[in-house]
Amino acid sequence: MRSSLQTIIGKYRLEEPVFVARPTMPPFDRFTERVRPLWESRWLTNQGCLHGELEKRLEEYLGVENLSLFCNGTIALLVALQSLRIHNGEVITTPFTFAATPHVLHWNGVTPVFSDIDPQTLNLDPGRIEQHINSNTRAILAVHVYGRPCDVDALQSIADRHGLAVIYDAAHAFGVRYKGKSVLTYGDASVLSFHATKLYTTMEGGALVASSARHKERVDFLKNFGIADEEMVIGPGINGKLNEMQAAFGLLQLETVDIEIENRGEISALYRERLASIPGISLFAQPPETLPNNAYFPVLVDEGKFGLCRDGLHAVLRECNIITRKYFHPLCSHYPCYSALPSSRPENLPVAEDAAARVLCMPIYGTLQLETVDRICAVIEAIHKESGKSQSL
Ligand SMILES: Cc1ncc(COP(=O)(O)O)c(C=O)c1O
Repeated sequence: MRSSLQTIIGKYRLEEPVFVARPTMPPFDRFTERVRPLWESRWLTNQGCLHGELEKRLEEYLGVENLSLFCNGTIALLVALQSLRIHNGEVITTPFTFAATPHVLHWNGVTPVFSDIDPQTLNLDPGRIEQHINSNTRAILAVHVYGRPCDVDALQSIADRHGLAVIYDAAHAFGVRYKGKSVLTYGDASVLSFHATKLYTTMEGGALVASSARHKERVDFLKNFGIADEEMVIGPGINGKLNEMQAAFGLLQLETVDIEIENRGEISALYRERLASIPGISLFAQPPETLPNNAYFPVLVDEGKFGLCRDGLHAVLRECNIITRKYFHPLCSHYPCYSALPSSRPENLPVAEDAAARVLCMPIYGTLQLETVDRICAVIEAIHKESGKSQSL
């Protein structure tokens, strides 16, 4: 089989690597025009004009109130927990997420308790949460994985029943609307990431959407060392500020983010059309009552039907210069820092274990050409045909 796959690699290898994500850059001159005034004002950070303008414009664009900008999503998550005074006990979260999600719990002195996910959404399964609740449980930290909304109503009713806070890691969910409003308006706080790999970026950056003006006030103190004024520090804050250069970049990104989402929608539609009929490649259904952002395009690989396992497909695509990501593998519950936790036992997390072993995220970004998407799908089809052939020998 190796030699037939080599033939595919020889036939389909792309000249230049196609990465899984790539930022769409604003015109360079527009950026220099935007930042020129900073050379005169020399106001580079600490809640400058561009920072204030971006907070306002993002609130309008996203349809939220009480948004605070941050230097990255991780610090925003850390502050979200601090702002809700969650700095001990246990928090129930998902193992199927990026490292930052459990790490912010650890950094806040909280023990992560991993709960299994739903096979349809790969988000926390509400039906599995209550078995983990005890007198130490403080909150649920859920992730809208790939920007697909969690079952927010079910999570909220569990939280209400047990007096828990709900925090959403919405790093992937920029612009997503659920049941007619921004998905960021659910729960006690939601956090976005504006990392360079995200569909909306400020290079590094993030935002916290608080639940009230008073909550935002607390968040804003906490992200600025807890400083209230020149002579008063009211609490143990941190430096979570976004600078003016990044805010300028973010303002320009906001001008084109609708086109970015639209382009990704076309790319997703083409992936759907071309991959749906390939045996062993399962696609995720569009989430109901959702205006999606098409931030990611995950598939699940079934080795028995496809002919090659997920790792094999990932490796052959890489040799074809197509860079996919096993996003999220390994599970957070497998990290050495968490693997000894009782909730990390694989038998506690069968759905997450299965998803992590089979998931693969395809390249998707606004400037990815449809011909390239077509070519990626053709390679996957050819790999299936070759692998399937040798399997049936
Ligand atoms: C689910 C999730 N949570 C948190 C983060 C952390 O965000 P940041 O890189 O902006 O710190 C990321 C991404 O990077 C993420 O994918």
